[in-house]
Amino acid sequence: MILVTGGAGYIGSHACVELLNAGKQVVVLDNFSNSSRTSLERIRQICRKPLAVVEGDIRDQAVIEKTLREFGCTAVVHFAGLKSVFESVSSPLDYYDNNVIGTHRLLRAMQGCGIKRIIFSSSATVYGDPKFLPYTEDHPLGPVNPYGQTKFFVEQMLRDLFVSDRSWSIGILRYFNPIGAHESGLIGEDPKGVPNNLLPFVAQVAVGRRERLNIFGNDYDTPDGTGVRDYIHVVDLAQGHVAALASLDKPACFAVNLGTGRGYSVLEVVKAFEKASGRPVPYDLRPRRAGDVATCYAGTDLATKVLGGWRATKDLETMCRDHWRWQSQNPNGYDA
Ligand code: NAD
Ligand code: UFG
Repeated sequence: MILVTGGAGYIGSHACVELLNAGKQVVVLDNFSNSSRTSLERIRQICRKPLAVVEGDIRDQAVIEKTLREFGCTAVVHFAGLKSVFESVSSPLDYYDNNVIGTHRLLRAMQGCGIKRIIFSSSATVYGDPKFLPYTEDHPLGPVNPYGQTKFFVEQMLRDLFVSDRSWSIGILRYFNPIGAHESGLIGEDPKGVPNNLLPFVAQVAVGRRERLNIFGNDYDTPDGTGVRDYIHVVDLAQGHVAALASLDKPACFAVNLGTGRGYSVLEVVKAFEKASGRPVPYDLRPRRAGDVATCYAGTDLATKVLGGWRATKDLETMCRDHWRWQSQNPNGYDA
């Protein structure tokens, strides 16, 4: 049995599907602060398998210990946490509380139950401003906002834990820009309020929920002047977790990038989405957004080596088509 914290969220729900498809049993622990219970119903609908659920908070050590024991868990895939860079600047204490203290309690609970296998959702944001590209895992770490700091501190906590007890199996996965949705269109990203990220915003313009996209900066040193990112299909990303779990069948502590190794500009994404949806995505060019880098993409060789040959396979067209299927079938998200 695998404990998936934050399993009702965007990436967690896709990981639950891939774990169930790989024959694992799954129990989700989520406080539903940024998700809907409907996503769990949809996972059951896709997989036609049981999925256990506990409503709880990762900061509650007793609930985690009870869940780990009751369900006989052997590993944890840890997604739960807050993820908005923007919000982390105005509410840093909430971010340190949920992400750092929450993970500390989770690790304490695991230690108390003798469960020493964990996969952690880190982020490319731990690298900070690029000293060179692609970002390989040996790129210096230097997060530039509180959200990124929380990911960095948790990574460090995990590395320190491994040094103290080398019987742990720890996989740190640094995600680049996950987009897209399961091909059924039943689960996908459902941000609350105004989306901060590009794809959900573009999709909401295409579906008619918002009028125009703001493109933040067209004077970067990139081929068309707009920001370049490494977008990865969320199903590829989810499958990376299944591969990581298999690699953690022995003690280890590794950190690998999950990306495709190639970047697309904002304008390329807008064009691809217009093509996939058949809808126009009108936009305005705006000044740069504070804290953005021009270009960000992953070195992927280490992940492929460590994760037993795993690599992302889905292209931008597929990402946009799948994202659009989810958005058009659920124009107002899960609980419309
Ligand atoms: P999400 O907000 O959709 O999912 C997070 C889930 O965790 C939600 O269901 C939320 O209700 C739950 N949660 C939050 N705090 C909790 C707590 N204290 N206790 C229990 N449950 C809690 O986010 P996501 O996009 O699925 O991201 C999953 C993880 O991946 C996060 O840790 C995030 O930082 C990381 N990540 C995401 C991205 C991205 O672009 N989406 C990029 C890099 C890393
Ligand atoms: N962008 C726009 N308009 C928008 C939103 C975004 O032009 O409305 C642009 C940004 O300026 C950037 C690109 O689209 O050039 C991608 O922006 P996102 O906000 O979608 O993604 P980021 O790369 O800024 O950040 C994401 C996650 C972070 C994570 C980081 C890791 O939001 O949590 O990837 O690389 F840390």
